[in-house]
Amino acid sequence: MKTVIVHGQSHEGSTCHVARILAGKLDGETREFFLPSDFGEFCMGCNRCFFEGETACPHHARLAPIIGAMDAADVVILASPVYVYHVTGAMKAFLDHCAYRFMVHRPEESMFRKQGVCICTAAGGGMKPTLKDMEHSLFFWGTGKIYKYGPGVAAANWEGVSEKKKAAIDKAATRLAGKIVRRHGKVKPGMKTRLFFDSMRLFQKKMGICQRDVEYWKEKGWLGSKRPWN
Ligand SMILES: Cc1cc2nc3c(=O)[nH]c(=O)nc-3n(C[C@H](O)[C@H](O)[C@H](O)COP(=O)(O)O)c2cc1C
Repeated sequence: MKTVIVHGQSHEGSTCHVARILAGKLDGETREFFLPSDFGEFCMGCNRCFFEGETACPHHARLAPIIGAMDAADVVILASPVYVYHVTGAMKAFLDHCAYRFMVHRPEESMFRKQGVCICTAAGGGMKPTLKDMEHSLFFWGTGKIYKYGPGVAAANWEGVSEKKKAAIDKAATRLAGKIVRRHGKVKPGMKTRLFFDSMRLFQKKMGICQRDVEYWKEKGWLGSKRPWN
């Protein structure tokens, strides 16, 4: 099983440890990217990814290795510490660069058969909106199955996390890894994703936001009977 972790920070703190504990329980290889070290650009709002294609993004060259690794992976882990009740700015900047992959534009076909995990840690609060920040992107990218895990660690770094808490994290990661391993190779999106895909299909049929998106859906055969999860 191939796993990619996109870390929303560049240091190896609690969030990084939680993500690695989970990835370590999934057999196979893991690739990691740290933000902003590996990608720290801000979206400039040029809209070129939408209208001209993702390779027209001024930051395409730096973004491409992460996108390539996500496309090649079976499991995509997005992991961010909670910063003021949300993901880090670096994670948000990365997700902004993936907007063209939203179902309303040009979703990557393989996402519908992948599993995605949102991970965060917080001192005490803000896990829900932070997990939601990442879940929104995984959902709108069409990810077949999404899990969320956001423990409150009552600490500013991993060294400060109690042994009791670390044991609970390990237990939860084992349970989550078991689910992921059991589903591997059998992933199909649920009703919510399929219904959303269908509404986007009708939208592309009627008008779409831009010609590039409509052509993409046509080429994929999704305006006919083909579906990305079959
Ligand atoms: C800029 C900043 C903002 C933070 N905001 C929150 C917050 O809103 N809620 C919270 O519980 N902890 C907050 N924290 C604490 C971290 O989320 C918490 O210590 C987390 O476990 C750190 O993960 P890390 O070790 O991976 O960096 C914040 C920390 C920083 C540096």
